[in-house]
Amino acid sequence: MELTKHEREMLEGKHGEGVAIAMKIQVAIGDSFHAKRMVPITRAHVALSNQEADLWFAEKLLKAGARCKIPPTVNPGFNLNYFKSAGKVTEEYANLMQRTHDTYKALGAVLSYNCTPYIQTNVPFFGEVTAFSESSATPYVNSVWGARSNREAAQSALCAAITGVVPEYGLLLDENRYGDILVNVEADINSDFEYQLLGYMGKKIGTGIPVFTGLPAPITPEAFMNLGAQLNTSGAYGMFHVLGVTPEAPSMEAAFGGKAPKRVVTITNEDLQEILSQISEPGGQKIDFAMFGCPHFTLRQVQIIAERVKGKKLSMEMWILTSSHTKEMADRMGFLEIIREAGGDIVSDTCPDQPCWHYLSGKTGITDSPKCAYYPKRRGLNFVIRDLETCIDAALKGEVD
Ligand code: F3S
Repeated sequence: MELTKHEREMLEGKHGEGVAIAMKIQVAIGDSFHAKRMVPITRAHVALSNQEADLWFAEKLLKAGARCKIPPTVNPGFNLNYFKSAGKVTEEYANLMQRTHDTYKALGAVLSYNCTPYIQTNVPFFGEVTAFSESSATPYVNSVWGARSNREAAQSALCAAITGVVPEYGLLLDENRYGDILVNVEADINSDFEYQLLGYMGKKIGTGIPVFTGLPAPITPEAFMNLGAQLNTSGAYGMFHVLGVTPEAPSMEAAFGGKAPKRVVTITNEDLQEILSQISEPGGQKIDFAMFGCPHFTLRQVQIIAERVKGKKLSMEMWILTSSHTKEMADRMGFLEIIREAGGDIVSDTCPDQPCWHYLSGKTGITDSPKCAYYPKRRGLNFVIRDLETCIDAALKGEVD
């Protein structure tokens, strides 16, 4: 790969050992993808996951003197104050979160602890070159905003934030952004929830860049969030197009770059029902808790819950996970008070896939998100998956039909 003088100096350690480590990793990635050069980035998002291995990597860079040139936003871990004061987290896990916080703070990251920065705090422009990790974030910035990012790992995104450059390959290049697979959606898409199931059709859709047709307009930001998050829970997708909606797919010609699709897939109501029955615990049972916000809920989604539980009492604990910005707005607008009076809560900075929920092991929750059901399974949490309205009704009644 051809490096500029400045990039070569970074690699040789003239800007410190931490920068050199980051650059060495990026050059290796670039070489393996046959990148010809590095290109500057203007934004980054690091899917900080508050786990030993990821923290080891971040601490190693910090100890070697690295600092972020492009301050990245970061993913949620868990809200230390909230879970510590509730006595819900062990000393070991509290220390892990504290070390994660201290490390990313010292590296110069924006401590947003939110997995949907692309609609709030880190929103790129069309064509902007970025380094985004996180399952719903990469497809959103590529597909909805028309910005450019490869499907970065937490580590490679952190390296990019430190060096300010990324190897130019994959989705950074025009020729790799065209669709491969035509996905005709014949299923009824009536709400944001069907996008969760549509996204979970990764196995049927297969590898490549899907171009969806048959989706009714308008498509909400939450629907796009859900689609990207679930595509990357059931598969690996850096980008998708929605014909006539997303900016690089105004026509079939533009979406496929003038070529014929390599594959045509049809998604029916039966497909969505079938996948739901595979990934959800069965209905007709008692539910122990409700969890929403995977990906982090928007203010509109919080409002839907607040309006539905207003003046009522929940039969179980209910958590809505969101960003600190959304929580603050929900507080100002009275939604937080309504939800707390009903017996639920809004928790900022927190992800379902964190050790703070270990005390729910063996219990069955309800959620509207297949991703929320997928990851915490390894911690022993089980979920029934339903649309948001059914979930809220179940949280009020204590059981789901
Ligand atoms: Fe976000 Fe964690 Fe879900 S990062 S998408 S809340 S698994």
